[in-house]
Amino acid sequence: MKKILLLGSGELGKEFVISVKRLGCHVIACDSYAGAPAMQVADEYCVFSMLDETSLRAAIAKYQPDLIVPEIEAIRTEVLLEVEKEGFEVIPSARAANLTMNRDRIRDVAVGLGVRTAKFNYAESAADLLTKATDIGFPVVIKPVMSSSGKGQSVAKTPADIQHCWEFACAGMRGDRQKVIVEEFIHFEFEITLLTVRQRKGPTLFCEPIGHVQERGDYQYSWQPQAMKPDHLKVAQDMAEKVTTDLGGAGLFGVEFFVTKDEVIFSELSPRPHDTGMVTLVSQNLSEFDLHARAILGLPIPQIDCVEGASAVVLADKEGAHPQFTGVPDALSEPGVDVRIFGKPSTRPYRRMAVALAKGPNALQRARDAAGKIKVV
Ligand SMILES: Nc1ncnc2c1ncn2[C@@H]1O[C@H](COP(=O)(O)OP(=O)(O)OP(=O)(O)O)[C@@H](O)[C@H]1O
Ligand SMILES: [Mg+2]
Repeated sequence: MKKILLLGSGELGKEFVISVKRLGCHVIACDSYAGAPAMQVADEYCVFSMLDETSLRAAIAKYQPDLIVPEIEAIRTEVLLEVEKEGFEVIPSARAANLTMNRDRIRDVAVGLGVRTAKFNYAESAADLLTKATDIGFPVVIKPVMSSSGKGQSVAKTPADIQHCWEFACAGMRGDRQKVIVEEFIHFEFEITLLTVRQRKGPTLFCEPIGHVQERGDYQYSWQPQAMKPDHLKVAQDMAEKVTTDLGGAGLFGVEFFVTKDEVIFSELSPRPHDTGMVTLVSQNLSEFDLHARAILGLPIPQIDCVEGASAVVLADKEGAHPQFTGVPDALSEPGVDVRIFGKPSTRPYRRMAVALAKGPNALQRARDAAGKIKVV
């Protein structure tokens, strides 16, 4: 029985714990607050800030896990680099966790591998940002190098927006580096997440592409499969394979691309299950969580089947505690619709609290209708 230390205990961690528990693992779920979703289904839990070096080291020393599985980006990844040298195994690798925590580092890796990205540059002050943005050409997208879920991200349409965008990015950034990435705005036809599975033995596998729509830098709904030109899909798979091979290790990655009429552009990746991939809980025979579990445990993945499916998020709209959900019976009265309530103990505006899932014809519309019926009160 493998002992897994899960770093981050959100809704993605919760589904991952269920998958590995089914395969007989023992899981210690960690997060900065008690009662986090994955803690509710794990064997043990541990509350500390994963950005704190001493506490993270202490948890690893105490539990002596066979596998350390990051679920979030905000981790003191230097500790993971050190403990990996000491013989602990980090999923998929400490380097992957370290590079993807910082947008600039993973972007530089992609460029080094010759992967097509949007035109971009980095800036460390408002004045610097104006110069770089002017150079790229407006509109531009601005994101802190350390942040997630759209925090601190904005679009500057003209030079007059720059000061505000800089301040917004500084307010939304994590960590100690005042640095942003400024990027050409891509007028994409659609964007996808390509779930990519690196196995311990055997070839890299790809799920059907997942289409999704984002608002405020956060995903609202997703569907699978997203139809795309076969040659575009091949280009995306080749780029995903290149980048994930460079990062190494075993596990599932969510590789994000923008697709325009003529080309496929790499955006970023998560070395772990992706939020837009929650659709696979209904659309695939093995969900992204099952695939991550099998890949890290070195278990076979003989086949990945996909039917039409979709997911739509249920968000809170205010601060609160002990949330209740109305409309769930109504949502579930539709055949082929399911709901996952994450069990987060408190709410804040736009916090993701649950997801509605639908499979079969018109899955997207049905998932969105179901999500619309559910209210967090
Ligand atoms: N250069 C761009 N051109 C157009 N849209 C963009 C660009 N960069 C980002 N976006 C939009 O913003 C979304 C979020 O950006 P990105 O994935 O880089 O940030 P994130 O904070 O890591 O988000 P998440 O954590 O939810 O994946 C993208 O999915 C896309 O919809
Ligand atoms: Mg993203």
